[in-house]
Amino acid sequence: MQVTFIWHEQIDGRWSQRQKQVTTSGDMTVLRLAREHDIKIDATCGGRGRCGRCKIVVHGPLNQVSEIEAQLLTKEELARGIRLACYARPLGDIQVSIPTGETELLQILTEGSKQVVAAEPDVAKEFVTVDKPQLETPDGDRERLLETLKRSGQQDCHLPLGIMSSLPEILRRADHQVTVTRWRNHIVAVESGDTTDELFGLAFDIGTTTVVGGLIDLYQGKELAVAARLNGQAAYGADVISRVEYASNGASQLRRLQQAVVDTLNGVISELHEKTGISPEKMCRVVIVGNTCMQHLALGVSPTYIARSPYTPAFSRRFDVSAGQLGLAVNPEAPVTFLPNVAGFVGADTVGVVVATGLANQDGRVLMVDIGTNGEIVMSHGGRMVSCSTAAGPAFEGAQISSGMRAGEGAIEFVEIGEDIEIEVIGQTRPRGICGSGLIDLIAELLKVGIIDETGRLQDASELQGLSPKLLERIRTGEAGNEFVVVWSEDAADGSDIVLTQRDVRELQLAKGAIRAGTMILQKILGIKDEDIDELLLAGAFGNYIRKESAMRMGLLPRVPLEKVRSVGNAARVGARLCLISQGKLEEASRLAKSMDYVELSGRPDFQEAFMDAMLFPQDNLSSQDSTKINKNVPRDHAV
Ligand code: FES
Repeated sequence: MQVTFIWHEQIDGRWSQRQKQVTTSGDMTVLRLAREHDIKIDATCGGRGRCGRCKIVVHGPLNQVSEIEAQLLTKEELARGIRLACYARPLGDIQVSIPTGETELLQILTEGSKQVVAAEPDVAKEFVTVDKPQLETPDGDRERLLETLKRSGQQDCHLPLGIMSSLPEILRRADHQVTVTRWRNHIVAVESGDTTDELFGLAFDIGTTTVVGGLIDLYQGKELAVAARLNGQAAYGADVISRVEYASNGASQLRRLQQAVVDTLNGVISELHEKTGISPEKMCRVVIVGNTCMQHLALGVSPTYIARSPYTPAFSRRFDVSAGQLGLAVNPEAPVTFLPNVAGFVGADTVGVVVATGLANQDGRVLMVDIGTNGEIVMSHGGRMVSCSTAAGPAFEGAQISSGMRAGEGAIEFVEIGEDIEIEVIGQTRPRGICGSGLIDLIAELLKVGIIDETGRLQDASELQGLSPKLLERIRTGEAGNEFVVVWSEDAADGSDIVLTQRDVRELQLAKGAIRAGTMILQKILGIKDEDIDELLLAGAFGNYIRKESAMRMGLLPRVPLEKVRSVGNAARVGARLCLISQGKLEEASRLAKSMDYVELSGRPDFQEAFMDAMLFPQDNLSSQDSTKINKNVPRDHAV
C-alpha cells in the first residue's frame, strides 16, 4: 500500500510544499514509517503516546482510534481526520498531511553573557616561501614544505593526504609562497599567498532542542555572526531519554540521529556563510559543547549506558576529531574539540557555563541553575564546586500540558491576575496555547489569589471568597477535576478554550519540585541556606526569559533578593567560544570538569524527602498580593 506524506518546509525564507510517496505493508505506525524515510513529525514523547504532539491529518483507511488517541484528541479533531502518528496504521492507500508545528516559529536564544579574554587560539598561520624544485634535488613538494616549516621552528609537522593531493597545484599557482595553518603539529590548510590576516573558527552549543553556532574571528575573539536551528533530532523525541532509547535500538538508528545533528550543524554553517560571505573552507577550528548525550550522538557514539545505572558515558574527557571525520562542511582537516563532560547528566554545556561565568574563581556562595528538560545545577563556595542534574521533564517547554506549547507565535508569555486575567501573546495573533514563561506566571498568579493552594489543588469556586465574578466564572470542573479557563474559546485562535487543568498543575509541580530539590541538596552539602546565597545565576534560554519573581513565588528557585539573581543567557556557547579563542580557557575547561564534584541524586535517600517538600508551593505566596506583584516593566526579550 502507498502512503503519501505532504508537509511544508521553509527553504531560503519561503514556505513550499513537499511531498513523498512511500510503500508499506501496513505493519508499522505512520510515525515509524515517516522516520524510516527521514520525514519529520513532531514526536515530543518519542512515540510513547503521552504528548499528543504527533498530530497528522489522514485521508484514507486507518486502524481504529485507540483509547490513548481518544484521550489526547478532541472529538472535533477526530472528526476532522486528525490522528496521532504514533498510533495510526494504514489499512490501504492513505494521504498524510503533517501540520506545520510551532517548532518552525520557535524563537531561539542566541545571546550569551560576555567575558573578555586575550585571543590566543591553538591554531596558527604562517606565511612561508618554499624552496622551488631543482633538477638536481629530488625532494618532493611535501618534503620541501616540511623542511621549510622545520627551518622556521616547526618540527615534525604532519601533512594529511587530503592536503598533499592538492599541494603541487597550490605551490605552483602561488609561486611557492603559501600560508600554512597549523594545529599543534598537524597541518590544517595550505593556501596560496599570504592569508595570515584572517583566521576563523566556530563555537557550537548542541542543545537537545536547539543548536546555536557562532563564527568567530580568532585573532580578535570577535563573534562575526550567530545562527541557530532546531536540533534535527527533535523528531526522534524531545528529551534526552527518548533519544537514548531510540539510539539504543541499533546502529542504523544511532547513525540517523548522528546524521540529523550533523545536518543541523551544517545548516548553521551555511547560514553563517550567507551572513558573512566567509567560505566554510576558511573555517579551520571548531569547539563544541552539549550535554553528555548530545556529545555522544554528534560523534555517533552510543549513549546507551548513560541512561543505565551507574550512568557511565563512553567518554568524559575532552575529545578531538577532524571535521572531515565528523561530516562537518568546513575545512575537512579542521580540528573539532568536544569539551569535557562531568558525568552522564552533567555535560560539557555545564562546563561551558562554568568557564563563561568564571564560577570557579568567584568568592562567595554562587548557585547556577540551567533549567531545561534536565536541570543542571552547580553550587560553588570556597573553591569547591558541586554539581547535579535533575530530571524536570518537558513541562516547562509546554509539553504534556493540555494547552501547552513552545514559545512561538500565539503563545501566551505573560499572565497577570487582578479583577480578571490579563495576558500577553507572542506575535500579532490570537492565543493558541501557553508557553513555559506564561505557565510560570500563571501558576504564580493563581497562587497569589488563592485559586491554587499550597498543595497545588485547584480550589472549587465555592471555596473561594473575595474573588471577582469574572475570575470565579473561569473555575470549572472538567473531565479530570477542576480547571481554570485562561482564554475563552471565542478569543482563542483555534476556537477551543485554553485551560490549565489540575493534571497540568501536578506536572508543573513535579518539574519545579525536581529542580528545587536539586538545589536544596547541593545547598545542604555545602551547608548554605537560601539567605546565604550571594548570587543566583540563571543559564540558558529559560533562565533568560522567565520572570524571576514568578519563579520564586512558585518555589522553583530559592528565595533570594532579586538583585542577586542574574541571567547569563546562553553561557554554554560563550564558554565554547572562550575555549575556541583561548588555549588557557580550553585547559581550564579540562581542569574544571575533572575537579567538579558530581552528586548522583537518585542515590541519596534525602533526595526523595527534599523532592516531596519541594513539590509544595511556598505558603506565604497566598496572601502577599501587593508585595509580590509582577513587575511588567522588567525588560525581557521573548518567552520560553
Ligand atoms: S503521542 Fe505520539 S509522539 Fe507523543
